Amino acid sequence: MVGLTVYTFLVNKITVGVLGASGYAGRELCELVARHPSMELMFASANSRAGEHIRAAGRSVTLVAAEDARLDNTDLVFSALPHGTSAQWVATAAAAGARVVDLSADFRPGNGTPPCAATGSGRSYSIASVPYGLTELMRPQLQGANIVANPGCYPTAILIALAPLLARSLITKGATINVSAASGVTGAGFTPKPELMFAEVAEDFRAYAVGNEHRHLNEMRAVVSDLGGDNDILFTPHLLPVARGILATITVPIDEPLAQPLALWREMYRDEPFVEVSDAMPSLRDVVHRNVVRLSVVQASNVRKPTLVIVAAIDNLMKGAAGQAVQNANVIFGFPEITGLPA
Ligand SMILES: NC(=O)c1ccc[n+]([C@@H]2O[C@H](COP(=O)([O-])OP(=O)(O)OC[C@H]3O[C@@H](n4cnc5c(N)ncnc54)[C@H](OP(=O)(O)O)[C@@H]3O)[C@@H](O)[C@H]2O)c1
Repeated sequence: MVGLTVYTFLVNKITVGVLGASGYAGRELCELVARHPSMELMFASANSRAGEHIRAAGRSVTLVAAEDARLDNTDLVFSALPHGTSAQWVATAAAAGARVVDLSADFRPGNGTPPCAATGSGRSYSIASVPYGLTELMRPQLQGANIVANPGCYPTAILIALAPLLARSLITKGATINVSAASGVTGAGFTPKPELMFAEVAEDFRAYAVGNEHRHLNEMRAVVSDLGGDNDILFTPHLLPVARGILATITVPIDEPLAQPLALWREMYRDEPFVEVSDAMPSLRDVVHRNVVRLSVVQASNVRKPTLVIVAAIDNLMKGAAGQAVQNANVIFGFPEITGLPA
């Protein structure tokens, strides 16, 4: 029976479209879809670069305008469009009958009402009805879902790191969780910006959105609250002079010291193929081009109140975007979750 199921997945590929395929996340998606044994890339869309070609798994793919994409002929659509633009296309694709994984923030928790509903279809989607695709924590809600809101890159690393503490209510109520995190420049997207030019970024390191102003905060606050936390998050992102990767250092006040800090994470993520709990502190080299969150935890010395320091690393374009989107699609369609993903 298992053999027959696997055979069916390999022979009957689902048809897949990628909106925003000329962007960083979209290109990564095309590559993963083209290599996925149960997916067939049907279209890849672009805006200003429609008509150009990209390469996916060694073959040339012509980018079409989103308006020309055959949404009605597609089982699954990944939307890697900018926030605000994505919601309308997500609703249109869902109304055309496709399952959709949205990589933008439009349907994520903490982001208010999406700017549109499906036009003319009679179907509309509210944020409340769209499950949040932090796969390891939300798996049951994702199976068979019509639309999934793929998490942001920073929230993926930070929420996976905090979840075991939240599950056991171990974080001091009302206390502030401090997060200092750094991302490579692909996190800012492909659109050229002077501050992201090579000479501005190389051999430098700087903070941005200082003062707790980053747009991922709402998402993290909403999910921490949903998971039972009663905490502020003070989040300071930095720009790293590398192409890809995120490293987050998370300082968490707890009521009582933990005898074996790592045991909690090992227990919760024991059966998770894409979460690695390690004795050694993770670095970007451990995770780049892989669909994993790798983390370690220590108790802080030389402070009066019990405090944990968690360090988590991900590839922003893989577990932080395209990899997790494919992981969620595997769950939606009932494929083995690791299918087509570099562990
Ligand atoms: N980069 C990351 O690390 C990351 C991580 C997690 C989530 N995300 C999310 O994923 C989405 C894509 O991010 P990205 O970094 O890949 O962005 P990007 O590199 O700027 O790419 C954006 C894509 O959307 C297309 N596009 C822009 N405006 C459009 C419009 N009005 N109609 C149709 N297509 C339009 C662009 O086409 P043209 O280039 O042809 O104009 C391009 O293909 C965003 O919502 C982002 O927040 C990104």
